[in-house]
Amino acid sequence: MATSDKSLGRILTLELVRVTESAAIAAARLRGQGDEKAADQVAVDAMRKELNRLPIDGTVVIGEGERDEAPMLYIGEEVGTKNGPKVDIALDPLECTTVCAKNLPNSLAVVALAQGGSLLHAPDVYMDKIAIGPDYEPGTVDLDKSPSENLAAVARQKGCEVKDLTACILDRPRHAKLIEEVRGTGAAIRLIGDGDVAGVIHTTDPAETGIDIYFGIGGAPEGVLAAAALRCIGGQIQGRLILDTPEKVERAARMGVDDPNRKYSTEEMAKGDVMFAATGVTDGNLLNGVKFSKEEIVTHTIVMRSSTKTVREITARHKATEKFG
Ligand code: FBP
Repeated sequence: MATSDKSLGRILTLELVRVTESAAIAAARLRGQGDEKAADQVAVDAMRKELNRLPIDGTVVIGEGERDEAPMLYIGEEVGTKNGPKVDIALDPLECTTVCAKNLPNSLAVVALAQGGSLLHAPDVYMDKIAIGPDYEPGTVDLDKSPSENLAAVARQKGCEVKDLTACILDRPRHAKLIEEVRGTGAAIRLIGDGDVAGVIHTTDPAETGIDIYFGIGGAPEGVLAAAALRCIGGQIQGRLILDTPEKVERAARMGVDDPNRKYSTEEMAKGDVMFAATGVTDGNLLNGVKFSKEEIVTHTIVMRSSTKTVREITARHKATEKFG
């Protein structure tokens, strides 16, 4: 398929797999070493190297931080060979750094790619999020409704009672009130220690994951990555940046956020032709972690594209002698 401004070359979908595989392998070498910074750094280095091999004229819009705080893969960094389409890139070379350092479940290497100007340029602040899977009418849930109202709307459309639903929430003190209200409705809660990209993706397959709705405050970069995933796999997410200091309002304004209270829909966070890839670093519900043996390194990746809605799961067996990063 020819590459045009409207549609990204589909070959890029598979190229993205190498990007997350490489970051995941690098980070997995440091699993359980208790050094989250080192694990993040090797993942960043590996991801950057692979991104720079891609035939794209890419700009990191969701990255490791702003230019003054992140030496590599910072917001605004240009990546790729420049011989290809202009694209926005959202990335998290190691989603759940602490989890990787402790070798607990669900750390991932994640990247999303879309046509230039298609991903929300969000600062590294918190975002309030609510997400549900593909089987609901648009607007079923809303951040301005109470958790009880949102749960009731989901139950109505699912044809069940609220007590039959399960909500996924990050286990944080800031969610005490939310947790209390959700428990008060009778719905079950799956509390997660980290990893709200996976948490949101879990809503897309409740029969498998047991999760119907994601609620709560996590990172804004993770919100945009999750929106990119939902554009490909189906489902809805709504997010609102938490800009609770004048400094954050100003930082966001510099990235084009003129209304600090704006609610962003899935499409407003990731529009157009979007691709998403994630490789497991540690074993998790979504993906298996990297496996090392004398002969080979095995990776497990999910890669998907919004324009075709194809979801591929790729188990790759790399020769242990191959150089990564
Ligand atoms: P890191 O990759 O930065 O460790 O993020 C892990 C994570 O759990 C995200 O999935 C989530 O969005 C964010 O942290 C929540 O932030 P906090 O740990 O400050 O509550």
